[in-house]
Amino acid sequence: MRTVAILSQKGGTGKTTLTLNLAVAAERKGKSVAVIDLDPQASSAGWKDSRAGESPYVIALPYSRLSQALQAAQEGGAALALIDTAPHSESASLAAAKAADVVLIPCRAGILDLRAIGTTAELVKLAGKPAYVVLNAMPPRATQVLADAREAVAVHGLTVAPVAIQQRAAYGHALTLGQTAQEYEPAGKAAEETAQLYDWLISVLKD
Ligand SMILES: Nc1ncnc2c1ncn2[C@@H]1O[C@H](COP(=O)(O)OP(=O)(O)O)[C@@H](O)[C@H]1O
Ligand SMILES: [Mg+2]
Repeated sequence: MRTVAILSQKGGTGKTTLTLNLAVAAERKGKSVAVIDLDPQASSAGWKDSRAGESPYVIALPYSRLSQALQAAQEGGAALALIDTAPHSESASLAAAKAADVVLIPCRAGILDLRAIGTTAELVKLAGKPAYVVLNAMPPRATQVLADAREAVAVHGLTVAPVAIQQRAAYGHALTLGQTAQEYEPAGKAAEETAQLYDWLISVLKD
């Protein structure tokens, strides 16, 4: 089983959106997935409640139970565990990063968001795990934004993932319905970039 932690110490960056879209992308490729929701707000677990169907498996618990949950996921046959986390929760985020093979840090591309990435970068450094910033909710045709973001993130010793996620209504609509973008609009742009992001993640996990 491979484990990916999705974290950022800032709220609303797209942790839950990214976690769930990647979880369903993996299921669609035939992988058994466990989503472990460490956020007391339990948004991933709430999404599962509104979802028709058994998969992916989603469990919400405090981070003190993380290692037991990961062990149970592995014994239950999960090939991939995705850990969704809360903002402003250094201990839980650190525990998630330590348990992970790879850390993804969703970040909106604005300068304030990029500046706020420092605390998350420190946590990841402490855990000593490979980490990638996933630019989220990007405006269309944002070549300059992308270049600025790469520079801003490099200051913290982080790398930007080669696939960025754009601002698209499909992400919000889908989650409201207990779906993800690939299910809500299979031929849409959001579905396409989600598939690309997943393929990239798998290539990183294989390294
Ligand atoms: N790429 C995107 N395009 C449009 N809306 C998005 C996108 N990513 C996230 N959102 C919206 O932003 C809000 C916060 O996202 P969420 O995943 O809940 O963030 P977090 O879990 O980091 O707090 C939600 O309303 C979500 O639908
Ligand atoms: Mg969330």
